[in-house]
Amino acid sequence: MSSLSREEALGALRWLIECGAGEAIGNEPVNRLAAAPVPAQARNLESAPAVMPLAALPVPPLVTVQNSERIAASFHGLAELKAALMSFEGCELKRHATTTVFADGNPAAGIMLIGEAPGADEDRQGLPFVGRAGQFLDRMLASIGLDRQKVYITNIVNWRPPGNRDPSPEEASICLPFLHRHIELAEPKVLVLLGAVPLRHLTGLQGIMRHRGRWQSYRLRSGGREIPLMPTLHPAYLLRQPSAKRLAWNDFLAVAEKVTELGLA
Ligand code: URA
Repeated sequence: MSSLSREEALGALRWLIECGAGEAIGNEPVNRLAAAPVPAQARNLESAPAVMPLAALPVPPLVTVQNSERIAASFHGLAELKAALMSFEGCELKRHATTTVFADGNPAAGIMLIGEAPGADEDRQGLPFVGRAGQFLDRMLASIGLDRQKVYITNIVNWRPPGNRDPSPEEASICLPFLHRHIELAEPKVLVLLGAVPLRHLTGLQGIMRHRGRWQSYRLRSGGREIPLMPTLHPAYLLRQPSAKRLAWNDFLAVAEKVTELGLA
């Protein structure tokens, strides 16, 4: 690194940030591409190599979609589900994240909002929608008389994707059984989907502009009950496109009407 010019070093840093390494978490740089040191016992063996090649490191067990469906279905309370997710090692995203972001708000509220994925602020604080988009979401909720004690909030995936990219289909499908179980355990009366990502993964519908503002329904995995579901625009999108706020306002008015009709909040 010392042979890099200032411009080259800045270029490399910019590239790392684009790849998702957006934060310094230690004072000393760590070369994670270097071979891992061998444990002390192994070093005593004459035949042991000085370093262990990366390929020889233990690989975490493969967790498949079928696995995670069976595992998720076995949890009987939100605390149990949260604890399970915190120790779940089946999603690649967790390897890059600082915390598991489970949910915020009041699970008994009857109104459940589902976003895309935690961002940098959420990853630091362990709560969904606490950054700029979250503060804007709070104002949107306030405009229809709601706050975090009157709603329950989570995301499609529980770990921040590097560089805030969308979760991949594989990452989402590993997490989805947990989300279906999460919905089942929280028993909301209304679901609000924030943006195209939750719309796609929870309903299979493509195109948030086409589907926003129209009631859909979500069928609980255990069968039976259907829950009214309103797709709307993501607050981060609204911060980038203020002219779309009036569309989201109309969607929120429809949610407010449903909340009154169902006697929630
Ligand atoms: N955007 C999301 O979709 N979810 C969060 O938790 C934060 C930002």
